[in-house]
Amino acid sequence: SMLAAAAALPLLAVATTGAQAQEIDDKALMEQANGLFEPIPRTIPAVRDNAVTGEKIDLGRMLFHDPRLSASQVLSCNTCHNLAMGGDDNLETSIGHGWQAGPRNSPTVYNAVLNAAQFWDGRAADLKEQAKGPIQAGVEMNNKPNVVVETLKSMPEYVAHFERAFPNIDDPVTFDNVARAIEAFEATLITPASPFDQYIEGNPNALTEQEKRGLQTFIDTGCASCHAGVNLGGQDYYPFGVVEKPGADVLPPDDKGRFAVTQTATDEYVFRAVPLRNVALTAPYFHSGQVWDLRQAVAIMGVSQLGAELTDAQVDDIVAFLEATTGEFPEVEVPQLPDRTAETPFPVT
Ligand code: HEM
Ligand code: HEM
Repeated sequence: SMLAAAAALPLLAVATTGAQAQEIDDKALMEQANGLFEPIPRTIPAVRDNAVTGEKIDLGRMLFHDPRLSASQVLSCNTCHNLAMGGDDNLETSIGHGWQAGPRNSPTVYNAVLNAAQFWDGRAADLKEQAKGPIQAGVEMNNKPNVVVETLKSMPEYVAHFERAFPNIDDPVTFDNVARAIEAFEATLITPASPFDQYIEGNPNALTEQEKRGLQTFIDTGCASCHAGVNLGGQDYYPFGVVEKPGADVLPPDDKGRFAVTQTATDEYVFRAVPLRNVALTAPYFHSGQVWDLRQAVAIMGVSQLGAELTDAQVDDIVAFLEATTGEFPEVEVPQLPDRTAETPFPVT
């Protein structure tokens, strides 16, 4: 295997005696890192065309947790984006309506507000556009906008929440406002203050020597040319397999990525460079979800994107660095949802 091959060349990483002892120059590394990355903000970021208010956040938190947005009334957003487990479902590909396996791995909702666009192929411009997708997708929540609105209107407590979140509007319970409230809630799902953030904010002791070596390697080998910015990715699209296509297990031939969005031949097998924040918590990896081990995912990236067989030591260092991007998670209150009424539509299986 690739890793065994790398292990056969153990001297590469430590070719000069005492490479380990080579002191990291914190000032230089911080400066370099600050040119490529940004810390996660400690306050809720603004979103386009949607003022983030406390009332919208409260409503959005209810909607995010409410399985009655799905036709079966079994699946909530939180089913596939479990806020207690890194904001995803830790499955290879998500299980949706009628126990169907979807085509792709679920990305985390944590810090998604900081991505340039949403989904593995970037087909939604922002979170309010995104949220309407899964509610209607046949393999996800399989519902209809009018049924969602009917369901919410059947519960007076929900209507009151919409009136508070969208004041001075005639008929505030709309599918668009469902999406706006969810987006406002998702804007609160940011994870600042990871050891990595503290380091680039100027604390030289926030990272261990190994994590610093990993950061340096992440920059020097070229990972950061695609995984940069505040989310270490989530900004742009690249062929999966710039240098060498991974096997059909990891890159199934049927999913052509961004090609489905742009219909442009050069976009075949082009995917978003995944945001790598909290990546240690979001196995399995890649849009196919076929790789459970972060070390293996990193080694595959080396070969497929950089044409480089990373040594075991380099892989370990990079993984240590990636683990140091795990931030502080917001405390999310479990909302109490209004009870159904005689008017609430029944679940449909
Ligand atoms: C993608 C939120 C329901 C599975 C996403 C993304 C967000 C999100 C923000 C994009 C993240 C990114 O690109 O970084 C929501 C919300 C939901 C919801 C607000 C409720 C309204 C679900 C459900 C499932 C699911 C119920 C599973 C059945 C997925 C999958 C993707 C995804 C597989 C990736 C799809 C692709 O890229 O083609 N979701 N989600 N989501 N979600 Fe959800
Ligand atoms: C995916 C790390 C270099 C583009 C990933 C994933 C990891 C990772 C861990 C999977 C994350 C997840 O599924 O949540 C790295 C490391 C690199 C590197 C450590 C350097 C050794 C690159 C480069 C590019 C790139 C240079 C662009 C040319 C991508 C893309 C994906 C991805 C497009 C998504 C693949 C898919 O469709 O599943 N990277 N990466 N990466 N990376 Fe990298």
